[in-house]
Amino acid sequence: MTGKDLPFHHRKHDEEVLPHATKKTMADHLRKYESLFTLTPQRMRMIVDAFEETLDKGLQKFGEVVPMIPTYVFGWPKGSETGSYLALDLGGTNLRVCLVMLQGDGKFEITQTKYRLSEEQKQEEGELLFDFCAKCLKTFVDSYLADFDLQGAAIPLGFTFSYPCEQERIDHGKLIRWTKGFGNLNVEGHDVAAMFRHSLEKFEVPIQLTSLINDTTGTLIASHYVNPRTRIGVIFGTGCNAAYMEKIGNIPKIKNLGLPDDGEMAINCEWGAFDSFTHEHLPRTKYDIDIDQSSNKPDEQAFEKLISGRYLGEIFRLVVCEMIDDGSIFLGQNTYKLEKPYVLETAFLSLMEADPTDELLTVVGIFTHFYGLETTLAERQFFRALARLIGTRAARLSACGIAAIVSKMGYLNEGCDVAADGSLYSKYPGFPERVHQGLVDIFGPKGQNIRTVHAEDGSGVGSAIIAAMTNERREAGIFPNC
Ligand code: GLC
Repeated sequence: MTGKDLPFHHRKHDEEVLPHATKKTMADHLRKYESLFTLTPQRMRMIVDAFEETLDKGLQKFGEVVPMIPTYVFGWPKGSETGSYLALDLGGTNLRVCLVMLQGDGKFEITQTKYRLSEEQKQEEGELLFDFCAKCLKTFVDSYLADFDLQGAAIPLGFTFSYPCEQERIDHGKLIRWTKGFGNLNVEGHDVAAMFRHSLEKFEVPIQLTSLINDTTGTLIASHYVNPRTRIGVIFGTGCNAAYMEKIGNIPKIKNLGLPDDGEMAINCEWGAFDSFTHEHLPRTKYDIDIDQSSNKPDEQAFEKLISGRYLGEIFRLVVCEMIDDGSIFLGQNTYKLEKPYVLETAFLSLMEADPTDELLTVVGIFTHFYGLETTLAERQFFRALARLIGTRAARLSACGIAAIVSKMGYLNEGCDVAADGSLYSKYPGFPERVHQGLVDIFGPKGQNIRTVHAEDGSGVGSAIIAAMTNERREAGIFPNC
């Protein structure tokens, strides 16, 4: 909805109830936020150019802001990988344990258990977090694999650890920095694979950690297993990131390994870090700056903070709080419940945008039920339009990231599929369509050649496929030190 579509707001009735409300109409407010949150095609193209340069830089040397991490996942799966693998997925919100049975021919079966991580668990001593992972895995193995004849062998496990890790080989990964609000102590700078192995030994879990991967790499590989047109894997969830397949010859920083130039390796971009520290390219509003500065990692993950599900609800809340402060809304009501950071979840933005009723009854419900606040119809229309602005900006910035990889790799003319996953992509109404529109705004009609497709379960199935690929590669003696 644009400002023009917003019905004119007669405050007559409200003014009787709320005599101090400002005269400014909600439509006026909306116009202001429209100009703050709208990204023009021209601005998007500028972002894409800077993004592409940054991606190239990350491949040149270690320690760049966008680290372009070599994953030691060599090339695409064949689709014929088979066998049973465990996958452990430490994402942003949940811990998941999966048993994946790869049946070849692009088919698989999966059994899984999910645990929600508490906020305390995200901040405690790192060793405790990995102990928790090992204990969950043990419970799973005891209940699902008790009848499995392992013939003395340890079960191969793919560990999906979705944070930036610099890898020396596939079963190693030094955490560069926590993202997505995690802050567990004594993990940054350490090899998380070794820490996890230590916990597995402590609790005597009969598991062999075969590979450590990122959710984006898993998404790329799992989707290619079933759809070989896949070229890029992206996650739009609690965090935001992408992976793609690169020619080894185009990764100068690993030249010393002596790998064949014409071979291929997946790169975990960690693009959430784009524009961190310098803040030169992205259009940040004061709400974005506020979120950034009060986060546990100020100045980091600049791109992610404008896009991912962890932050969109909070951006919305900060705008609303500003309007409360300047007396534009909720005068005379007690707003303390809404004044607590992060109480407004991105899922509420999805619900507001999806509200099918003329009276916007879902929006009524959210504000009364969760925050004890009464709203007028004009306010609710404004809230929905604001959610739309924030959600659309996120989708259009996401399109910029995808466009940078497409343009760098020359995929535009031929077209390709982009495997996408995460709550924002799969649950936020209109998100995929807005990304597509963004790609067309950047590239013109050819942007339609780039399709996003809801991905297979990259963190579970992808992890298993990569464990299988790694075992095969090791058995064949290929790149044994990787
Ligand atoms: C954050 C993490 C990254 C992950 C993404 C999506 O950006 O740093 O590793 O892929 O979130 O989960």
